[in-house]
Amino acid sequence: MTELIPAPRGAVTGAGEVRLTRHSRLHAGTGTERVGRWLGAALRQATGLPLGEGREPGEAEGGIGLRLRPGLGPEEYRLVSDGNGVLIEGGGAAGVFWGAQTLRQLLGPDAYRRAPLGRDRSWTVPYLTIEDGPRFRWRGLMLDVARHFMPKEGVLRYLDLMAAHKLNVFHFHLTDDQGWRIEIERHPRLTETGSWRARTKTGHRASPLWEDKPHGGYYTQDDIREIVAYAAERHITVVPEIDVPGHSQAAIAAYPELGNTDVIDTTSLSVWDTWGINPNVLAPTDNTLRFYEGVFEEVLALFPSEFVHVGGDECPKDQWQRSETAQARIRELGLADEDELQSWFIGHFDTWLAERGRRLIGWDEILEGGLAGGAAVSSWRGYAGGIAAARAGHDVVMCPEQQVYLDHRQDPGPEEPVPIGWVRTLEDVYRFEPVPPELTPGEARHVLGTQANLWTEVMEDHARVDYQAFPRLAAFAEVAWSPLPAPEARDFADFERRMAAHYRRLDALGVAYRPPTGPLPWQRRPGVLGRPIDGPPPSR
Ligand code: ACM
Repeated sequence: MTELIPAPRGAVTGAGEVRLTRHSRLHAGTGTERVGRWLGAALRQATGLPLGEGREPGEAEGGIGLRLRPGLGPEEYRLVSDGNGVLIEGGGAAGVFWGAQTLRQLLGPDAYRRAPLGRDRSWTVPYLTIEDGPRFRWRGLMLDVARHFMPKEGVLRYLDLMAAHKLNVFHFHLTDDQGWRIEIERHPRLTETGSWRARTKTGHRASPLWEDKPHGGYYTQDDIREIVAYAAERHITVVPEIDVPGHSQAAIAAYPELGNTDVIDTTSLSVWDTWGINPNVLAPTDNTLRFYEGVFEEVLALFPSEFVHVGGDECPKDQWQRSETAQARIRELGLADEDELQSWFIGHFDTWLAERGRRLIGWDEILEGGLAGGAAVSSWRGYAGGIAAARAGHDVVMCPEQQVYLDHRQDPGPEEPVPIGWVRTLEDVYRFEPVPPELTPGEARHVLGTQANLWTEVMEDHARVDYQAFPRLAAFAEVAWSPLPAPEARDFADFERRMAAHYRRLDALGVAYRPPTGPLPWQRRPGVLGRPIDGPPPSR
């Protein structure tokens, strides 16, 4: 029972168990009906029990009851399993939903199956009382679908995996040098041209290997609406990322006028086929601003999230230094240099988004040269950007590459597939602390939460994404949700003990995690080059 991941704030066990049978009912009180539909569908699928609708909402009556309970925070819940059945009460529907996830864990790994194992299987929940709620309001996962496209069904599956771990922000990295993945109706070439590349570098960019076949794909606006609705049903917010002014070669390949045409012949560019930091960045022209305002108008219509991510990372300034157009803009705006030009570019969209009731978020480079009031920062190059942002009064999501970049290898062994980056083990992730001790309590309030990032240069399919994400995402989920002590005082042995049960859940979900004993034969990729172990800081 106490094998829950993430660990709840508090749990008290009793003696006895609730047994769900063909006669058990599911009551969903006012405001919890959608959670009731989700839970009913998930449990019927796994158990084969009818779980018919109860007549008296909020009462468990030997079955399952869901209801709102004033006084709890919107994501907090209380789960009581006793002689009356299982009652889940939440401060809001989100709290009830997270309680429903806990119930699913309590029912055992088979509750995650998509077909019942047999009619004589019994379904029990031990008597207990759980009081629970999240440490952070932003418990994020970023998925890069630009480097390797993940078809819609795979994205929906990841939303289910996030929900099972009580993660609630899906940062959807939709554009990069290597692909543009979202249909923009007014600029059709973004996907016609920008969503396909001719070939792909295999492994680290220094590798001599190529996969010599086209790679691509994109989400239609209907796909996006489906993904956003599916996420909302699971109390997950989708934060879209459209990366500007760097990481834009796919867009420039589709619309060459977006690039620095007075420096290079942008008509010669194609969607990038290798990795690293790309020199071909957007031109700081009115045409580019209007083009991207059009992109963001469509993006805002599709994504209701408060935050919109504009990237802002890794924008080399060489072309702007050589571009007469960029230099004229610097003079006209009275800017000191190219860094201030980047700041002006980001600031334009900061204002533009704020005027539309949204908030800009970007990678920590956007701090350089100053940032407008409501903007927030994803601190990826370590903690420093996040500390500076919080001290300047900006909200921060902590996602330092040294700790929570899950593309980095999780073991130093020679069998690790395509081993890029630093070695960051399950225990390293478990001991990750999102709030650096340098921050005062007042400054620390700007840490909205934390996020694990899945960059997919070396993750060409679902199985590879699963391998890099799991089991570390389970440790990350506990860091983001549970009130853990300081890193060195965390009980990793207890976490590992609970993981033994959690691996069975992941098995039932069909997750191709890295087994504790190392990669299975089919998970190894001999011959594919990665980076040297703990070499210089990774750039892919
Ligand atoms: C990043 O990893 N370039 C945000």
